[in-house]
Amino acid sequence: MACVVETVRAASGAYPVHIGPDALSAAAEAAAAARRAGAGVLTVAAPGVRAALPAAMARFAALGPVHVTRADGETAKSPAELADLWEALAEAKLGRDGVVVALGGGVVGDLAGFAAASYLRGVAVIQVPTTLLAMVDSSVGGKTGINLVHGKNLAGAFHAPALVAADTSLLATLPARELAAGMAEVLKYGLLGDAALLAEVEAAGRMAWDHPALPGIIRRCVRMKAEVVGGDERETARAGGRALLNLGHTFGHAVEAVAGYGAYLHGEAVGVGLAMAAALSRDLGLVGDGDVARVVAAVEAQGLPSRLRAPLPADALAAAMRHDKKARAGRIRFVVLEALGRAATRDDVPEDAARRVLLAHGAA
Ligand SMILES: NC(=O)c1ccc[n+]([C@@H]2O[C@H](COP(=O)([O-])OP(=O)(O)OC[C@H]3O[C@@H](n4cnc5c(N)ncnc54)[C@H](O)[C@@H]3O)[C@@H](O)[C@H]2O)c1
Ligand SMILES: [Zn+2]
Repeated sequence: MACVVETVRAASGAYPVHIGPDALSAAAEAAAAARRAGAGVLTVAAPGVRAALPAAMARFAALGPVHVTRADGETAKSPAELADLWEALAEAKLGRDGVVVALGGGVVGDLAGFAAASYLRGVAVIQVPTTLLAMVDSSVGGKTGINLVHGKNLAGAFHAPALVAADTSLLATLPARELAAGMAEVLKYGLLGDAALLAEVEAAGRMAWDHPALPGIIRRCVRMKAEVVGGDERETARAGGRALLNLGHTFGHAVEAVAGYGAYLHGEAVGVGLAMAAALSRDLGLVGDGDVARVVAAVEAQGLPSRLRAPLPADALAAAMRHDKKARAGRIRFVVLEALGRAATRDDVPEDAARRVLLAHGAA
């Protein structure tokens, strides 16, 4: 199947997102064109991606140096890795016209994106996401950053990519657990704003990298993110806007933090969070029991957990939610469902209601 192209139009500019098998060629051609014009190209990858995707690596290695991060996974989003990458960019003598290619999951996308945002006060970045999560979420929208000892994503910048290429054939080597985690974000998009996407995912069943519906599903997610980001790029809207993308994440982030990073993949915690957000919405009288059951079934159909795998203390989860970066003036901001396919932000949810939901999903 041929590639499709979506255009993201944000306040900071517009850029294309190529989606489908061989979308990689669009990225390689754009980088090669920059090279022909005399610009430097530096590709960033994690060790796991270098090992899993030698052919993709070779295409970019032909255009310039490749910087492989020391760590693989979340710990690669560190100040030390950022400093290494800055030095690699300087060593490669990348100029203002230079291009950074981020070949990898959300970790490399965020790290390389932030390096590109800050090196020489900003050079272009081409995002080539290699995980489903990165294809439907992190590669689009321009948020970049690293983690500090004090918390995730505490240092960063908005830096929109010049081009995104979501090549579904690169997902062939992605572990099934990582693919499922990406499906949690897909379900999030369906639930917050695209009932037809939700139905399509339900009909498709457990997703596989070569499922014929996958490119179309990614496209719908990108379109939804583009729409939300287009209206509220810097998440300044007082209600709704980019904050809606946090559906399932207030609960999910708490689960991730309290279970200890790594116990749940981010998408697995979001799976639990989506089920919790649906239950909270029901308890607030917004949706019915049937809607909640449908959310739980959709989450579980992707091999994701819909409740805690082992009990976690409700007090610690509640405290983590209060400390979530998105909390404002001491109030936890929840994204609730008004229907399956329509979400809203609420900052008047009584903490008791959230606590009851935690207890009903395996917290102790
Ligand atoms: N910037 C944003 O808007 C945004 C949005 C959501 C998430 N994020 C960030 O994204 C990060 C998570 O991204 P992720 O889930 O992609 O994790 P990741 O980048 O760590 O990738 C997961 C693992 O899969 C490996 N991998 C990647 N592609 C592969 C492939 N094709 N074949 C085999 N192995 C492969 C990686 O090496 C890694 O070990 C988090 O740091 C999160 O904060 C950012
Ligand atoms: Zn997420």
